[in-house]
Amino acid sequence: MSTRKTAGESGAGGVAPLLAVDDLTLQYKTAEHLVTATWRVGFEVYQGDRFVLLGPSGCGKSSILKSIAGFLPPVGGSIKLAGVPIERPGPDRMMVFQEFDQLLPWRTVLGNVLFPLLVNRRMDRKQALDHARALLAQVNLDRFENVYPHMLSGGMKQRVAIARALAMEPAVLLMDEPFAALDALTRRKMQEELVALWEEVRFTVIFVTHSIEEALLVGSRILVLTPHPGQVKAEINADHLSFKDVGSPAFETLNRDVHGLLFADKVEAEALATGGRHG
Ligand SMILES: Nc1ncnc2c1ncn2[C@@H]1O[C@H](COP(=O)(O)OP(=O)(O)OP(=O)(O)O)[C@@H](O)[C@H]1O
Ligand SMILES: [Mg+2]
Repeated sequence: MSTRKTAGESGAGGVAPLLAVDDLTLQYKTAEHLVTATWRVGFEVYQGDRFVLLGPSGCGKSSILKSIAGFLPPVGGSIKLAGVPIERPGPDRMMVFQEFDQLLPWRTVLGNVLFPLLVNRRMDRKQALDHARALLAQVNLDRFENVYPHMLSGGMKQRVAIARALAMEPAVLLMDEPFAALDALTRRKMQEELVALWEEVRFTVIFVTHSIEEALLVGSRILVLTPHPGQVKAEINADHLSFKDVGSPAFETLNRDVHGLLFADKVEAEALATGGRHG
């Protein structure tokens, strides 16, 4: 089931990964405890991947994203972006969160998307305006540019946050359970929109979820992690699946296989506890 796939154009010698995570061990030191969040996790993300980190609560998904973003230094292993070790946060790695208060409430939709562009002085005001408006059009919010965040639905706020992150033209977009707080219908719509936007812009995204179905629908490649501390369980190719496949035999088989991977440890532990009398 494990596959190695390059999303870019593969030359004779193959393509170098955009992001290389090698033997990544992450820990938190608190006054009383040393918490190991991930243990020797390795994976490679290629240009244009929709790369999903899938695993149970507490397995270290957010910690991996934080470390890629430059906020949590590894205690072991390395993370390299285009061959360069990550040492600090930077606009080449933009994060989109699940919380709806990630927008600046006192700025309009357009103001929110413009803000990081102007702060980083990437472009002059006119260029920044054109760029921000083009992105708002891509996420279907051009009619709402003068509206304030409190007047938007959760899904619309999430789209502004995505537009704002993409405006910086990051090498990788980092999304930590961005749709988890949305109702089921909005969530599905947002998943579809994200993939449609990807079809247009072909950005590289690392997407965290603990929904198997979301992983299969949003991801082109899925890294399945074990429970705490997170280790790599498997890597799965889901590039061939699309929204129309939900409920199809191929989709449900893969869904079941991934479910089996996620709960294998639990089944093994139960089997041990019951002396192997299982099923
Ligand atoms: N700031 C922190 N201080 C101490 N321990 C932490 C901190 N942040 C996370 N942890 C611990 O590290 C482990 C991994 O946490 P992390 O938030 O990365 O998991 P997760 O996979 O994102 O979980 P969830 O799906 O619930 O968001 C957990 O045991 C958690 O308790
Ligand atoms: Mg998390």
